[in-house]
Amino acid sequence: MSTSLLSRLLFFMPAERAHHVGSWLLRALFALPLIGWALRTMLRPRGAVRVMGLEFPGPLGVAAGFDKDARMYDALLGLGFSFVEVGTLTPRPQPGNPQPRMFRLPADRALLNRLGFNNGGVEAALPRLRRRRRGIVGVNIGKNKDTPDADAATDYAACARAVAPYADYVVVNVSSPNTPGLRALQTTEALRPILIATRAALDSTAPARAVPLLCKIAPDLSNDELDAIVELALELGLTGLVATNTTISREGLSSDVSALGAGGVSGAPLKSRALDVLKRLRARAPGLVLVSVGGIESRDDVRERLQAGADLLEAYTGFVYGGPLYAWTLQRR
Ligand code: FNR
Repeated sequence: MSTSLLSRLLFFMPAERAHHVGSWLLRALFALPLIGWALRTMLRPRGAVRVMGLEFPGPLGVAAGFDKDARMYDALLGLGFSFVEVGTLTPRPQPGNPQPRMFRLPADRALLNRLGFNNGGVEAALPRLRRRRRGIVGVNIGKNKDTPDADAATDYAACARAVAPYADYVVVNVSSPNTPGLRALQTTEALRPILIATRAALDSTAPARAVPLLCKIAPDLSNDELDAIVELALELGLTGLVATNTTISREGLSSDVSALGAGGVSGAPLKSRALDVLKRLRARAPGLVLVSVGGIESRDDVRERLQAGADLLEAYTGFVYGGPLYAWTLQRR
């Protein structure tokens, strides 16, 4: 079956079901040793880069949210992605928001989601992270919906402590629009104790490794807010920033989303803001590791982000629309 036919079949299903069916098929395919080996060999990434002390086989990885529970990172790596950021994982399992909560906006090459950190909890993911045989895997962590904002640092530290031995890097996610109050944790006063507690948790659990720590930020921050986060990152010696998460803006959409309700928009409509944020961060923090995410669809996008100073790139929506050969296509010379 051709990959474009497969994509078309998946597009007949509701978005969240298609994600689960596609994920299952992918895992089944890579469970066949010979086929897995052949695909891995044919689709392997190009353009190795050394970032955060790690050898990435190429600059393009899978953004958080695609493999929330660390179930399929091995298959994603086999499709030509150089790394996978699993999660968001929270300390306790939680169901997320009621369905439907994920929608395609094909006219905009975009998705709208309000999943709300549905995940099986960090402890449940540990055996799967422990089983990793190859590849680079980062872990994106969050707080539970019912944890008061004042106790957020405890949640982030608990997740960091649990994943420290298995994560190549850890990302503090304070930018999902689908957990009430979460994005308010991006102010300097709220973010400082979270980052300090997370760093301490990583260092006490994996002292020999100095696990790289990054923070994932929203595209809807003002320039002043971005600058304040950069200052804080430099003050605390953060490894880097992941920019950006989904946007709450509906500007420029041609799809009628009025009936769909709340959620974050990803994909093409995010492209220019994600690029602007990257340029601003790079101008203010030459030494920070910058992972650029948001609307990466083509080889030109890859080139543009790298030229604008990104160290690594991640994608979610471009992969959904581009199909299984997306990573390979973007890295072909
Ligand atoms: C996401 N994203 C996301 N980010 C995160 O930090 N934790 C998460 O759990 C999720 N979950 C999630 C689910 C779905 C359905 C989507 C579409 C996105 C955001 C994602 O990692 C990325 O930052 C944005 O989607 C922007 O990149 P793209 O999609 O434009 O490449």
